[in-house]
Amino acid sequence: MELYEYEKEHLKALRPHLAECTVLLKSNGDFPLARPCRIALYGSGARHTLKGGTGSGEVNSRFAVSVEEALCHTGFTITSGAWLDGYDREIARAKARFLKEVKAVARKKKVPAVLEGMGRVMPEPDYDLPMDAEGDAAVYVLARICGEGNDRKAEEGDFYLTETEIRDLHTMQQKYKTCMLVLNVGGPVDLSPVMDLDNILLLSQLGVDTGLALSRILVGKDNPSGRLTTTWAAATDYSWVGDFGEEDDTHYREGIYVGYRYFDSFGTKPLFPFGYGLSYTTFAMSNALVTAENGRLQVSAEVRNTGNRPGRQVIELYVSKPAGRLDQPYQELAGWAKTAELAPGESETVMIDAAMVDLASWDTENACYVLEKGDYVLRLGTDSRSTEPAAVVRLAEDVVVRRSACRCGTPDFEDWKPEQPVSETPEDVPVLAMNAADILSTAPEAADQTDEHASGQSGEDRTAGEKTAASGEKTAASGEETDGTKAADETGQPADIDAYLHGLTDEQLAYLNVGHFNPKRRLLTMVGDSAGSVAGAAGETTRALQDIGIGSLVMADGPAGLRLARHFVRGADGAHSLGSPVPESMLEYLPGAARWAMQTFLAYRPKRGEEVRDQFATAIPIGTAIAQSWNTDFAALCGDIVGDEMERFGVQLWLAPALNIHRHVLCGRNFEYYSEDPLVSGRFAAAITDGVQKHPGCGTTIKHFCVNNQETNRYTSNSQVSERAMREIYLRGFGICVRESQPHALMTSYNLLNGEHTNERKGLMEILREEFGYQGIVMTDWLLPEMKKKGSKYPAPTAWKIAAAGGDLIMPGSQAVYENLLEALKSGDLSRRQLEVNATRVYRMIQKLGK
Ligand code: BGC
Repeated sequence: MELYEYEKEHLKALRPHLAECTVLLKSNGDFPLARPCRIALYGSGARHTLKGGTGSGEVNSRFAVSVEEALCHTGFTITSGAWLDGYDREIARAKARFLKEVKAVARKKKVPAVLEGMGRVMPEPDYDLPMDAEGDAAVYVLARICGEGNDRKAEEGDFYLTETEIRDLHTMQQKYKTCMLVLNVGGPVDLSPVMDLDNILLLSQLGVDTGLALSRILVGKDNPSGRLTTTWAAATDYSWVGDFGEEDDTHYREGIYVGYRYFDSFGTKPLFPFGYGLSYTTFAMSNALVTAENGRLQVSAEVRNTGNRPGRQVIELYVSKPAGRLDQPYQELAGWAKTAELAPGESETVMIDAAMVDLASWDTENACYVLEKGDYVLRLGTDSRSTEPAAVVRLAEDVVVRRSACRCGTPDFEDWKPEQPVSETPEDVPVLAMNAADILSTAPEAADQTDEHASGQSGEDRTAGEKTAASGEKTAASGEETDGTKAADETGQPADIDAYLHGLTDEQLAYLNVGHFNPKRRLLTMVGDSAGSVAGAAGETTRALQDIGIGSLVMADGPAGLRLARHFVRGADGAHSLGSPVPESMLEYLPGAARWAMQTFLAYRPKRGEEVRDQFATAIPIGTAIAQSWNTDFAALCGDIVGDEMERFGVQLWLAPALNIHRHVLCGRNFEYYSEDPLVSGRFAAAITDGVQKHPGCGTTIKHFCVNNQETNRYTSNSQVSERAMREIYLRGFGICVRESQPHALMTSYNLLNGEHTNERKGLMEILREEFGYQGIVMTDWLLPEMKKKGSKYPAPTAWKIAAAGGDLIMPGSQAVYENLLEALKSGDLSRRQLEVNATRVYRMIQKLGK
């Protein structure tokens, strides 16, 4: 197989970093092996190695290397062929049973089996295959797949290990002197029954070269230097204060106590804490030095490689905030630094920089971000449970960092909180003072900042929302007058409306606000069917205005690379993917006749004279694995690779990165997301955006804004969340990403927030545009009317309400949506002005990205 030059270059660039995404969870020193040897290879992921998850996050790379292939290729002799063949037979039988069950459930529910099966995970079956292969070492690769459309299950074969797996892992540990459990998973499994194993590696799902990465780690060519971005715990130790996976209302009662913020505050010991990871070498940290000047914290420390192999270490800075009127978790991450590769004996001084303003908490009562007076304890460590105090920063007065308004709605409960403050001021560490003026000098500017930053304000103060309404002040950055119109530009139009668009008809305007659709298909607009310019792309802005010179933007999915069709032809009417219009993984859910139709007369087959072309995208590591590198330069490199392929294939907007929070371990799309921590999520999304957007004409689409933390009834489930948890946990990463990298697009989520669809909630748009300073376009997630679940408590969103809230693009587009906008214009529900503002943003983005 001869690869194209760009494929070779992209894989070559990724390879040195793959071990950075893997986390060594347990090690007794037996690994790395001295050289390739005779190896007994077992487990579900040995031959069927997973490069990533399923759904829109799946990438059609040309190929992917399994562990079995990579080990053979790098000189290992695999002695367990009989076991691997036996496993194939078991899995084929289990698959047939599973498909039958899903189809039966679908029949009972009267829904198409394709929708019932979307993202459904087949649990690992039980079987009894002899583990009798000889070998110098053994490796057991345990795989779990998950994906869009369904949450994971707290069942054996999914979050829990099966009896077979537990038995076989113990057999391996007894039989082979040198052995390792390798986890080819997208998120945690409950490892408590096998914590006695000596060696465990979280390989994760690393795209094309997942197998190769393992073969290099086994022989020590690469040293794992990843760290967990999510806590791994026994099922019983996770917080179950809030609920999860409810059909209608899911209550985020745990408030801000998500992930390690919960575990560390309540002293619950996880199996492996947030930030944790071992290495083939060892490190020592010394000479920690903290300065607190000009509103910033700067922490330096010396890291020495004290072992006998080269490796990289991550140093993490956490801060315990004083609990005053507001309760606080034991600590939260404030920054981190990763060393370069250090040779044995070599050392490096790392530097972590954090702005005090970024540590502010949300005070709902006073609608502001505040740093309450008291002691801020800075802690350094190599995971959240190994932190040691390095200094205390003392604030003599409350500092209001930013005033705003409560804009997220109200849940039907009060957040849960600890009974007492959980952090105390340590003795024997330097105490540094910081003053309000210095802190405020670093506060980010925002469009709706209506007053000078205030310090020492009490709970009696007015909220910014009240102030704006009362004073009628002009906001500096937006130039907005109090009646809601914008200052005029040189053409006499308000600055937020393009003069050219002012002259368009209502119909033309409406087209600009709706993704391109085929008017003959009133209902179903399949993903990939609506984007005529690039085969397999998920959507495109309208092509109905090309005769008046308005081009379109093509959007393709991610985040584990660029999701396109591998083979296509370009006909007079656009690009056509070859083969079935329904993805292969979903075909198996169709009845025989429909499957046959998809594969024959409904499948596009090249006509005489049409040339078959290919588009091989590189599958990069899944989102969680990229973040496990704790190396944002690597994330930028991944973005650079995707950006190059976007340019090559003519895609303007990548529907990634996805940065929802790992709120619950069972969320089916966690593998696409980065972390349970918003700082990690925001920084990684920003870095990957920088990598993509350095390519002219290419932009990212950060998603799913917001609180899309479960897949159960994802279209109309209502996330009930407090304003504080929204601000500090669920919106914060989006804010960081917008401020650091200004992505060109953002996708709203399907779900509701406190009773209103996120895409219809004006307050969220205000936070985004006015507080975060977002300048790109806002599009909806792919709203397909046929996906609305029967019997749901909440309705599907309405197109004109989305537009009225300031949503610019309703995707993937349909005749029904287009007509709805026109009717709302006619009835006066939607103003022409709002449609012009939305259309202007789309139009300007089309101009900017150059189509
Ligand atoms: C997913 C999005 C995706 C879109 C287009 C939706 O079902 O939720 O993440 O970008 O489809 O494929």
